[in-house]
Amino acid sequence: MGRLICLSNRIPLGPNPSGGLVVALGDALTEQGGIWIGTSGELAEKPDNTLREVEGGAFRRMCFDLSPDEQANYYDGYANSVLWPLFHGRTDLLDIRGEYLSSYKEVNRRLAKMLMTLIEPDDRIWVHDFHLLPLAYDLRQLGATNRIGFFLHTPFPTALALQALPNGSEVCQWLAHYELVGLQAERDVRNCVDAMVQVGGATELAGGFVHLAPRQTRIAAFPIAIDATEFADLAEAEFRKLPPGIVKSDRRLMIGVDRLDYTKGVPQRFRAFGEFLQRHEDWHRHVSLLQISPPTREGVAAYDDIRDETEHLSGHINGTFADITWVPVRFINRPVPRETLAGLYRASHVGLVTPLMDGMNLVAKEFVAAQNPDDPGVLILSQFAGAAEQMGDALIVNPHDPEQMATAMMTALAMPRSERKRRHATLMAALTRQDVHWWSRGFLTALG
Ligand code: G6P
Repeated sequence: MGRLICLSNRIPLGPNPSGGLVVALGDALTEQGGIWIGTSGELAEKPDNTLREVEGGAFRRMCFDLSPDEQANYYDGYANSVLWPLFHGRTDLLDIRGEYLSSYKEVNRRLAKMLMTLIEPDDRIWVHDFHLLPLAYDLRQLGATNRIGFFLHTPFPTALALQALPNGSEVCQWLAHYELVGLQAERDVRNCVDAMVQVGGATELAGGFVHLAPRQTRIAAFPIAIDATEFADLAEAEFRKLPPGIVKSDRRLMIGVDRLDYTKGVPQRFRAFGEFLQRHEDWHRHVSLLQISPPTREGVAAYDDIRDETEHLSGHINGTFADITWVPVRFINRPVPRETLAGLYRASHVGLVTPLMDGMNLVAKEFVAAQNPDDPGVLILSQFAGAAEQMGDALIVNPHDPEQMATAMMTALAMPRSERKRRHATLMAALTRQDVHWWSRGFLTALG
């Protein structure tokens, strides 16, 4: 059998990369002698068209540089100011510009050319995420006959939303060059099939296939997952290393961890917490919210706006409710290491995962895996996270409804231990059964 070639905009860098996707793909890559290829994170005024090896690590990695112009137009532009808002239902944030699309196509074409010097006909190619939608099309143009699969980590938009894109039908054409299109959730599969038919002019066939010349493409859900056992062990070990005082006996901790992105619903979460504090004076000084939100995509204006809004709201809640011994919201706008997060999840009584729209959301899964099975915390989960399809034993909420979220916070804080244990056991059983190895095996088996 040939090798597995994985492509994503960002590859895990550093000598010993960690994280769920790295574990999953790393295993498959090591077993099959594969390569993970993506951008280097460095900019070069005139990038040369060669892939260079990344030293170290358990599997082979190769990278290439973007130019400053490509960073602005392909990454900040088409990927993060067009596709990202569109795929998350934020057509109001669309910034359609010709130079974005041409740069996006150019980067994909450039990558396809570099790949052609490397791939053998029996290699399987697995393309990840919205940055690289046209890659199969470009590879086919250059004569590649490999099996090529695509996995979208974000939601797939409705047919109606896709029509907001002047080149919506071209997006469908790009997808039609893959043998397999994997999506996070069943809702995405429905949206994708509808869009392929209504916007792309495809024909729906039996068995999850659509036909749009030149091929039949299978569209199916492969919900991404974590290595639950590994994460549970990490959380147990890291919990013991937390500085004293993180958990106070008379105080409950609610935690939210999200890149500071407008899709994550952090302002709505803060407003709901304000509503909770307004309603429950008896909980003042007995609960606090720790929100960890590292900055992301700082070249895009919508991200500056969300930072201003969250800083303003957390300041407002603290100004309204804090006293000299208690700060209700701690808002950290810097990255925190994965190990520390694992320990913090275990120390928390409530996990708040309330995005307005999300492909899967692995924080939801990590929070559950990190809990002490004997005295677990409670997950409050948005109905708009892909994870909600699999995690019905969380408290499922509508993140737009501050009153319902405030009620869920109360329910979570007051939930009897027996019910917490029952919900956690059901969630954890599913997480161990359907782990990240199950996910990557499932996709690769379907790809053939
Ligand atoms: C989402 C996307 C990923 C992306 C990540 C971080 O999860 O699906 O493809 O890597 O966000 O965003 P960034 O733009 O920093 O890579």
